Amino acid sequence: MKLIIDMDTGVDDALAIMVALAAPDVEILGITCCHGNTPLENVIKNTLRVLKVCNRLDIPVYRGCGKPLLARKQHAGDYHGKDGLGDVPDPDAPGLELLKKKAVQAMIKIVNQNPGEVTLVATAPLTNLAVAVQLDPNFPKKLKALYLMGGNINSRGNTTACGEFNFVADPEAAYVVLDRYTCPTYIASWEFSCRNSLPWSFYDQWLAQNTEKAEFFKKISNLTVTKARSAEYQKETTEGKGFNSCDTYAIAAAIDPTIITESEEIAVTVELEGKYTRGMMVLDYIEQMKKKHKAVIIKKVDLEKFKQMLMNSVK
Ligand code: BDR
Repeated sequence: MKLIIDMDTGVDDALAIMVALAAPDVEILGITCCHGNTPLENVIKNTLRVLKVCNRLDIPVYRGCGKPLLARKQHAGDYHGKDGLGDVPDPDAPGLELLKKKAVQAMIKIVNQNPGEVTLVATAPLTNLAVAVQLDPNFPKKLKALYLMGGNINSRGNTTACGEFNFVADPEAAYVVLDRYTCPTYIASWEFSCRNSLPWSFYDQWLAQNTEKAEFFKKISNLTVTKARSAEYQKETTEGKGFNSCDTYAIAAAIDPTIITESEEIAVTVELEGKYTRGMMVLDYIEQMKKKHKAVIIKKVDLEKFKQMLMNSVK
């Protein structure tokens, strides 16, 4: 299968890349970078760093949008570290000479060269995708499918009371994408990933594998994992008491849709105005919006298959 991955490479995006690279029959045609977890320059460096560890610097990486359409720029440094990858210095980080420009134009070009064949996975704020459909209104129709990590299904936020980071970081872009991408669309929401988190015993066993990739992921995830495992954090959360690598679910579902064991098709949009609710995903259960296009909201995945994908990703 052919993939384009649009990301804001932080810790869980890094794992998503590793999972995609380890999957058989997956061809990554490009990674398009977007602002988000960390400023765009870090996103680019982090993406190249992950590809270097995986010995896949042949995959083209593109510079995308550095800020949201209208919203104020924000990052998730508290969670992913200031550099977006757990603040672990890397003296051998690859230089930027391999970086390609114009992510949005590249996305459109790649999809035009492979109409109906490319699955787009987005694990970042949706700015690049929103600009793509402005430049080429037919772009979504030429995709095989779109898989998103973003939004929330029960108004439980992680960035604002009601908002998930990727949607809150660029609500207007999320609105455009949910409105205009009429291709098959799959959404891995925040609460879904919380409910499908993995036991810490799995995390320990998984990263005990003595490989360069396991070592790398252990180092870059240390900051987030230490926080997530702390008693204080466990007190704050009512769901997801385990390893929750949200972006990785979107990639896993794109690579092997049979991993999805429960889902629901619903028309969705995003709230743009509320004082407390701006950026919250809205699910139209009573079909009031009269939208024809429905997204598949992923509810559960086969965790054994998912664990196997993670196992393979660090081999
Ligand atoms: C999303 O926000 C980011 O911090 C993660 O990488 C993920 O894409 C979760 O809300």
